[in-house]
Amino acid sequence: MSHHDERTFVMAKPDAVQRGLTGEIVTRLEERGLKLVGAKFMQIDQELAEQHYGEHEDKPFFDELVEFITSGPVMAMVWQGADATRQVRQMMGATDPADAAPGTIRGDYGLDLGQNIIHGSDHEDEGANEREIELFFDEDELVEYTRSDEPWVY
Ligand code: TYD
Ligand code: MG
Repeated sequence: MSHHDERTFVMAKPDAVQRGLTGEIVTRLEERGLKLVGAKFMQIDQELAEQHYGEHEDKPFFDELVEFITSGPVMAMVWQGADATRQVRQMMGATDPADAAPGTIRGDYGLDLGQNIIHGSDHEDEGANEREIELFFDEDELVEYTRSDEPWVY
């Protein structure tokens, strides 16, 4: 991993899987030039959901959020690239799809605050990316490789 490279945690949420948008999310990040280094199609259990969204445990929407994220399979991923955490957040758009710009993933596909298609680590929360990666992946599940288009990769 070069000095400017960073890894970030991304998840296609249950609504994305149900609506067949997992591939679209992967395609967008791939085409942007971010590098996929880990992926896991999985069902999140109650405990993992509560840990992952621990920062929101006192919020009124917490129970609903945990219920939603455990309601069906998700695609958990790790993406790598320069400033990857912030880049993914830019591509995701605002948390509420109603406020997300067209062209962003949430702006193009999100339905409402609860069902907003994609999770990405918060770039304003120092270390959130590595914490979330660690929560979902063992280090040996992440792959180091060179993409053949590396000079063009972000
Ligand atoms: P948050 O971390 O604030 O947003 P983001 O996903 O953009 O980092 O909130 C986590 C998730 O909680 C969010 O994706 C959707 C859900 N949520 C609600 O259901 N209601 C709310 O009022 C907020 C702020 C979030
Ligand atoms: Mg967040």
